[in-house]
Amino acid sequence: MPANQSYFATCARGLEPALAAELRELGASDVSPGRGGVAFGGDRATLYRANLWLRTAVRVLCPILDVPVTSPEELYDAVRGVDWSRYLTPEHTLAVDCNVRDSAITHSKYAALKTKDAICDQFMDRLGRRPSVDTETPMVGLNLHIHQEQAVLSLDSSGESLHKRGYRPILTKAPLNEALAAGLILLSGWRPDTPLVDPLCGSGTLCIEAAWLALRRPPGLTRKRFGFMGWMDFDIELWTELRDQARRDMLKQLPAVIAGSDLRGDAISFAKTNARTAGIGHLLRFDVKDIRDWRPPDGLPGTIICNPPYGERLGEERELRGLYQMLGKVLKERCRGWSAFVFTGNGRLARAVGLDVAERTHLCNGRIPCQLLRYTL
Ligand SMILES: C[S@@+](CC[C@H](N)C(=O)[O-])C[C@H]1O[C@@H](n2cnc3c(N)ncnc32)[C@H](O)[C@@H]1O
Repeated sequence: MPANQSYFATCARGLEPALAAELRELGASDVSPGRGGVAFGGDRATLYRANLWLRTAVRVLCPILDVPVTSPEELYDAVRGVDWSRYLTPEHTLAVDCNVRDSAITHSKYAALKTKDAICDQFMDRLGRRPSVDTETPMVGLNLHIHQEQAVLSLDSSGESLHKRGYRPILTKAPLNEALAAGLILLSGWRPDTPLVDPLCGSGTLCIEAAWLALRRPPGLTRKRFGFMGWMDFDIELWTELRDQARRDMLKQLPAVIAGSDLRGDAISFAKTNARTAGIGHLLRFDVKDIRDWRPPDGLPGTIICNPPYGERLGEERELRGLYQMLGKVLKERCRGWSAFVFTGNGRLARAVGLDVAERTHLCNGRIPCQLLRYTL
């Protein structure tokens, strides 16, 4: 791998500006936001740091082939043209993950198979032996992205998706993806020396992500495996140094209160368990409380951020209207001086909050188009 390389970090749609800001802070060069991700440049340390530190990314890819293709056969030829001995030996295991969008090549599984065949055929021709396939934990994972007539084949430096932080074994109803939760916090512009509260906290994802940010704890700190660890050029000393330095630089205490509450007792027990697994159970406050009885903590105002239920069926939407109205009333009457953010996938319900929206950011939660709404109180 050359010293300086181009990379592409993927993320949920709408989080590109937050991801680009994270990359600039990490010292990446040529940071250029695109659709569903951000291109950047850097050396091997930048790549390791990106995997260790990025809060909003899903995975970090290292493109090695970018070619026009109109058929699986053309794809096969292009992949076979790469010198694969730079990245693999017959002793390695590999897997190819493929996604296709608006292309003449419609079958992603077939495209992945052709790619794998091209690599293995090259090894058979040259050495008479070939790497084997391991779809679960490959030593080298490849990502093939085909958009219209352009195929990009990348080494996947992350392996399992970076949003899986490992603190959330228990899933409540509709939890927020960790990378999206971190993205909402970053987009809110919250300063960690001011309080942050989530009065509809569910399993506590927003509070936990905010706390890790405030403590300068990298999200990948205790993760055992990243994709780059199976590569031929894995520099274990460099990786260990970067990770240990991050651990030494972490804060032990939160600069300001971070607290969550929820109507449901089971959600609050999940939030507490998750916070403990995240190593911060002793730093966060979680209480059972109905929003109608809730008020923000005393002292200097800070940020309120929450994601109320959206209601996918019509009946549910009618029931939820009252919750959104109550939320608006509580924000207006009890939260003077605070900044409030509501993340929702339902524009009609959002209007029931009844407050002037100071800013609206469009994002995707999986396939659901959502908005982060800011209210100045
Ligand atoms: C979409 S979930 C929040 C998910 C959360 N962000 C997470 O990561 O797990 C919405 C939460 O609002 C809570 N909720 C609904 N009505 C409420 C009320 N009146 N007062 C407080 N919480 C309420 C639900 O119990 C649910 O946990």
